[in-house]
Amino acid sequence: MNRLRLGINIDHVATIRNARGGRDPDPVRAAKLAATAGADGITAHLREDRRHISDEDILRLSREMDLPLNLEMAATDEMLSIALKHRPHAACIVPEKREERTTEGGIDAAGRHNRLAPVIRLLSESNIRVSLFVEPDQRQLDAAKSLGAPVVELHTGAYCHAAAEGHVKERERLLEAIREGARYGASLGLEIHAGHGLSYDTVGPVAAIPEIRELNIGHFLVGEAIFCGLDASIRRMRALMDEARAMADGRNIA
Ligand code: PXP
Repeated sequence: MNRLRLGINIDHVATIRNARGGRDPDPVRAAKLAATAGADGITAHLREDRRHISDEDILRLSREMDLPLNLEMAATDEMLSIALKHRPHAACIVPEKREERTTEGGIDAAGRHNRLAPVIRLLSESNIRVSLFVEPDQRQLDAAKSLGAPVVELHTGAYCHAAAEGHVKERERLLEAIREGARYGASLGLEIHAGHGLSYDTVGPVAAIPEIRELNIGHFLVGEAIFCGLDASIRRMRALMDEARAMADGRNIA
């Protein structure tokens, strides 16, 4: 079976900590717990404004954690030098606007070619596996390929938003775009990841897309942890992913 990896995004453990200052809850403790609950990696976004993850968190995650770290970062000189210093397993390049509440869209890989090319090259030369967070759009996938990024992460935010709003046709249309993007990206030789906004209700159809190798999920799980604990929320997500994948594999074999 083509096992789907789960990356747990711990940003919002840090959001809660930062609401009061101090050290609790500790995102590094959450990362260690995620490892025992079935995560394959930890994702953390060091934003320019440090609204959640801090520089010290990245240092501690690099030193204290056994799982691979996927550093989400904007393509800025500051973030590039931090990534080159800590050498995480992977770096996911995302667009970043100061005023946004979360990463609202994919990066414009096509339009920002000249800025992205040296960043991708320097990260790759340091053996950091680069992914570009893009909309499931052929033009962006072509650009990611021509930039030499080995991985793309497809933005699932619009699909999840349509699902949450109960817009059934829009949800299906956006899901089909993710399926199509995954097929097209894989045909170019890109490794396909996906994430943003995924919940128990929306993860199944995305996990069933056979080209997708990894999902990165955070906000919903940290919120759900309030009700059932982080261990249980991650285990349930892992089970839903595995179930959807096993059913899809069964269909593909039959
Ligand atoms: N992947 C990327 C590239 C992201 O920017 C985020 C949000 O930081 C996620 C995945 C996780 O999204 P969510 O927290 O909504 O699950």
